[in-house]
Formats: sequence, structure tokens, C-alpha cells
Amino acid sequence: MSRIVYVDGAYVPEEEAKISIFDRGFLMADGVYEVTSVLGGKLVDFEGHAVRLERSLTELGIAVTLSRDTLLDIHRELVKRNNIHDGLVYLQITRGSDGDRDFVFPNPETTSPTVVMFTQSKPGIMQSPASKTGIKVISIDDLRWGRRDIKTVQLLYPSMGKMMAKKVGCDDAWMVQDGFVTEGTSNNAYIIKDGKIITRELSNDILHGITRAAVLRFAQEAQMEIEERSFTIDEAKDADEAFVTSATTFVMPVVELDGAAIGSGTPGPVATRLREIYLDESLKAAI
Ligand code: PDD
Repeated sequence: MSRIVYVDGAYVPEEEAKISIFDRGFLMADGVYEVTSVLGGKLVDFEGHAVRLERSLTELGIAVTLSRDTLLDIHRELVKRNNIHDGLVYLQITRGSDGDRDFVFPNPETTSPTVVMFTQSKPGIMQSPASKTGIKVISIDDLRWGRRDIKTVQLLYPSMGKMMAKKVGCDDAWMVQDGFVTEGTSNNAYIIKDGKIITRELSNDILHGITRAAVLRFAQEAQMEIEERSFTIDEAKDADEAFVTSATTFVMPVVELDGAAIGSGTPGPVATRLREIYLDESLKAAI
């Protein structure tokens, strides 16, 4: 059975899905996206993703054409039609196509955004092998643009960063700007020192992770100490533990940075506990 995807109001088999070659998402990376995880057939943190989506669209002056309720209905319909137990829903909204290529934005009165959504099935994602062993990261310069708080589809540099890591037998890259870690290629970055969770403060330099917000809330509720500030690669190498968060990896321990073991070189107790709490609470709150 082929996957059913959503394109501009229609549910179609993926082979039949079509968008224009003039779509600005394709030509200019003029679009935004969200990734919402599905656990036990339900959506994790849907509200947070919907709010961030609206913010991303508004920041770029792309019209918000779908209400939160409609978006929720489409997410649920896709999960149902594709029989997703564990996995994710990917959503992308671009500025659309006015039938040609031009740097000038098309008139929003006559050109409406393109909305595309599809699912990915990831059975057993909660028990992923990487979460047991931890992942290895390298550090690279952060060469992205200055509005990383907007979740745009400009993912070429993060993708190149992931390939740089793979090339040297690692899993991911932490990006560094002015001597401080910004974030991972597709996740937020954390270190733990003397029991304190340290992660970069929110600004235009990083994506305001929905998982980050949830994990920090759960950590606070569990009386853990949190410091939102920038940290360096040297500080990270000297940390007791490290981890990353995202909608697809949840809380993922990081055990090696630029070839140096972090702490014991195995997933630490704080990251392991945070992953458990995050998954427990997310399963309970999923809709
Ligand atoms: N990436 N930082 C960056 C650069 C990201 O791309 C992501 C998410 C995050 C974590 O955000 P959240 O917790 O809301 O998923 C941080 C998604 C998962 C992706 O590109 O697939």
C-alpha cells in the first residue's frame, strides 16, 4: 500500500502528489516546516509545533491559511490513513508558486501558500539503539544565516554538517559561532556539569526547540538545576554528560565530542533519566 500524503487540501497516494516546478520552496527555499512525533498513534506536543509554525510563517510574511484545528485534523487523518504507531508527521508550507521565477515575492492576494504533509513510520523509535549507546559528535563552524529561530527549509548547511560527521565515523555535528556552541544540525545541545543542565539561551541564533521547552519544564519539575547560557567546546569536553533534544531523537545522550569521551563515554544518569521522563510524560500528554 502506498503512503497517503496531503497536498493543498487533497489526500493522495505519494506517486500522485504534485507541486509546481515554480514553487518558491523548490526554487528559493522560501518555506517553513515542522516535524511532530507520533507515539502510540498520537501526536506529541502538537500545540507547541502549531504555535511555532504560525510564528515562522508570520516572521516571513507568509499567510497562515489553516487553523490549528484543521491542522490537527489533517495530522490525525494522515496518522490514521497510514497506520502510524510510532513515527512522525512532516509538514511544509511554502510561499507557493506564481508560475515563474522571480526574487520578488508574489502577490499574496493571487498566490496562496503550498501546504504539503506526509508521515514517516519509525517502529521502535522509543528504544532506538543510539539511545542506549549515545552518539558521537564533531564540532564545525556555524555557517547558517542569522534567523535560525525561524524553522525554514534551508537545510543545506545542516545537511552538509551531518555528512562531515558521517565522513569521520560520527553521528552529528555541533555548530560553533564566536567560540560558543549554537546547536546540533537538527537538535538543541546540552551539557551537564556538577548536576547542572547547561544549554544555550534562546535568541535568533538557535531554533526554539519544542522538545527543549518540554525537557526544561520536566527538569525543573524534577528539581534539577538549569542554566541557560552559551558554552564552549572545551567546556563540553570537560562536562560530566552531554545530550541533544529534538522531536525525532527525544533526549539523546552524546558520549564523544571531537574524538574525546564526555564523562564516562557512555550515556550518563541525568540524560538517561530525562529521556525516561520525557517519553513517559509525552506519551501521557499526546493527543
Ligand atoms: N529538527 N535545532 C534545529 C536546528 C533543528 O532542526 C531542530 C529540529 C531542533 C529541535 O527542535 P524540536 O525539539 O522542536 O524538534 C533544534 C527537526 C526534528 C528536523 O529537522 O527533522
